[in-house]
Amino acid sequence: MTKKLKVGVLISGRGTNLQALLDACADPAFPAGIALVISNVAGAAGLERADAAGVPTLVISHKDFPSRETFDARMDAALRAAGIELVCLAGFMRLLSDGFVTGWRGKMINIHPSLLPSFKGMHTHAQALAAGVEQHGCTVHYVTPALDDGPIIAQAAVPVLAGDTEETLAARVLEAEHRLYPEALKLVAQGKAGTDQSDYLNRRGAEAQKQRED
Ligand code: GRF
Repeated sequence: MTKKLKVGVLISGRGTNLQALLDACADPAFPAGIALVISNVAGAAGLERADAAGVPTLVISHKDFPSRETFDARMDAALRAAGIELVCLAGFMRLLSDGFVTGWRGKMINIHPSLLPSFKGMHTHAQALAAGVEQHGCTVHYVTPALDDGPIIAQAAVPVLAGDTEETLAARVLEAEHRLYPEALKLVAQGKAGTDQSDYLNRRGAEAQKQRED
């Protein structure tokens, strides 16, 4: 079997997206494996998920560091020491320094709960409801220094239904996230998702073409 891409996952909380990635990586045929999970929050529920899957964990609390840069440098050292080749952000609630992002450019991906470029930042479901859109969803993208802005790898859309609240809409998007993140990781691990945005647009175009033909 070919070598699996060594993945590090950064979390801050419940870790349901981490769980989706752990489940996908449990398949021997999946082209990536999770070698380290780092949480900046001690006691984050996601740490138990990693433990249960037998994946090493580290808690690196940002509160123990005098600056964003020194905190990020500690995470960087841990990731490099573990031989990590790709970083997945999965509900990691800290902004990353430009130095860290640049050091992992093209090798760090994030899942964001909106159809980017719409609704960057926080409270995306409330933003979508306030805007009155008919379609909402989630995006996996490469991380660049600008917030929620890097080249898109994959997106999944869900309908906004009459009577939706922030909670019902969030739950529908979260289900889509759990399908999308493993699919996107697979594309990256197979070398099928380049950092050039035209890669994504070409893939999406080819999928649309195939659907028209089927
Ligand atoms: C998800 O909605 C993800 O899109 C966002 O943070 C949330 C994390 O949830 N970046 P979980 O910890 O994966 O359950």
